[in-house]
Amino acid sequence: MSDTLNTPAKSWQARIGEATDAIAQTFVESMSYDWRLYKVDVAGSIAHATMLEKVGLITGADREAIFAGLKEIEAEIDRDGPKWAGFKPELEDIHMCVESALTERIGEPGRKLHTGRSRNDQVATDLVLWIHNVSYALGREQFDVIIRAFVDLAERNRDVVMPSFTHLQRAQPISAGAEALTWASTFSNALQRFYAPWMTQTVEWPLGSGAIAGTSLPIDRELSLWWMNRETPGMVGHDEIEVSRSSIESTASRDLACDFLYACAMTAQWLSRWAEQWIIYMTTEFGFIKIADRYTTSSSMMPQKRNPDMLELIRGRCGNVYGDLFALMTILKGLPIGYNRDLQEDKRIVFRAYDTVSQCLTMAAAIVNSASYDKARIEPTLDRGFLDATSLAEYLVTAGIPFRTAHHIVGTLVARCEKEGKHALSQLSVEAFNEVIAASKTDKRVTEDVFTCLGAANVVKRYQSAGAAGGKPFEDQLAAWKERLGV
Ligand code: ARG
Repeated sequence: MSDTLNTPAKSWQARIGEATDAIAQTFVESMSYDWRLYKVDVAGSIAHATMLEKVGLITGADREAIFAGLKEIEAEIDRDGPKWAGFKPELEDIHMCVESALTERIGEPGRKLHTGRSRNDQVATDLVLWIHNVSYALGREQFDVIIRAFVDLAERNRDVVMPSFTHLQRAQPISAGAEALTWASTFSNALQRFYAPWMTQTVEWPLGSGAIAGTSLPIDRELSLWWMNRETPGMVGHDEIEVSRSSIESTASRDLACDFLYACAMTAQWLSRWAEQWIIYMTTEFGFIKIADRYTTSSSMMPQKRNPDMLELIRGRCGNVYGDLFALMTILKGLPIGYNRDLQEDKRIVFRAYDTVSQCLTMAAAIVNSASYDKARIEPTLDRGFLDATSLAEYLVTAGIPFRTAHHIVGTLVARCEKEGKHALSQLSVEAFNEVIAASKTDKRVTEDVFTCLGAANVVKRYQSAGAAGGKPFEDQLAAWKERLGV
């Protein structure tokens, strides 16, 4: 059985006859996780108070007291974190905890802060600011670190030639560095998705939308946004955001949170694919990649084991992040327009996805920094799988043979090798090449020069197309990355 708690008076106590049921109180609170919004909550409140003063709804002295009180509170939470004395679960959320602590501290002016505002526009504003801040922080920190790690890996392994795979079957030879740069590129693109809402769309400023319908008070929403832009460094940029069109939409929409979760999910996807690739490369069967022992674990029963558990967890956690995206999308699909308490779940989801992705990026970068391609294991296998077959077909094109004919000729040559127990095209004689070429009704012939297009190391040097995985195009890519990163 539950009993009722003797709670401090809430602002709505005049309307709701009883104190909140204890079970309900624990059930409804979000303070235990939304406390993380405190900095943006304080910043939003200062912008709001500044606006209230400018339009004459509060005095300059009120605004000063509010500003000083909020700054004190912010400093205390900086210091105490979730243990801050003002966090009282019975006050439900960060917004009411901060407002109540402010009023306790400064008295009457604190009671004026919520003029023309509701928690509905306040929480929407906080979330916009929080997402903005962490998106840019991810770019400056975690993404920067992982992109650098892959570029370093490319540099350290620029001379390693390895097979590439399509269908997980040997395809064409590549520079191992080119594969490393691929991951740098995927993470750079993943980061763009965090920036996209700010750079390519109009993000809307919800503050001043009130509970749903706005307010009859003469507030100036442009002013609070102006203040936020001008006076709160690093919060939002001028061109990134404008006052929302509709107060109803503003308090009901979580579009930006969905965009953010999608960016998280896409990042998790690339982390997972990379992890899967390296898990395969770390098998005895492949043996292409070595990572430091400190990023592996062993088995409680099999003494010989060295398992890539960190990589497996990175791969596994992608499932959680996809779940987070889907969780919010699912919550939203059934909501009538206007604020509904279901929306409170958004923060649990957004924080969780952010934490997962940022921790995985950090873990991944550490692993990459410890890794190298195992040249000694890779190189002896390069003459298996006819990695140079496409190169030979292209060589025949340069000798004037149409590509389809060349493709057929090389297919025939590969089949002939297999029939004769040869494992590489370079084991065939010039006569054998010309015999098959002649059979395809062309008068073109090859000389000893044909061997310059065979063998993985030769092939890799011959790549010419922009973005290609070896030779000059790879060196160009590496140089471009180094220039971009200033290394
Ligand atoms: N903690 C709430 C949330 O995160 C704040 C808004 C509550 N609004 C309300 N009218 N109950 O969504």
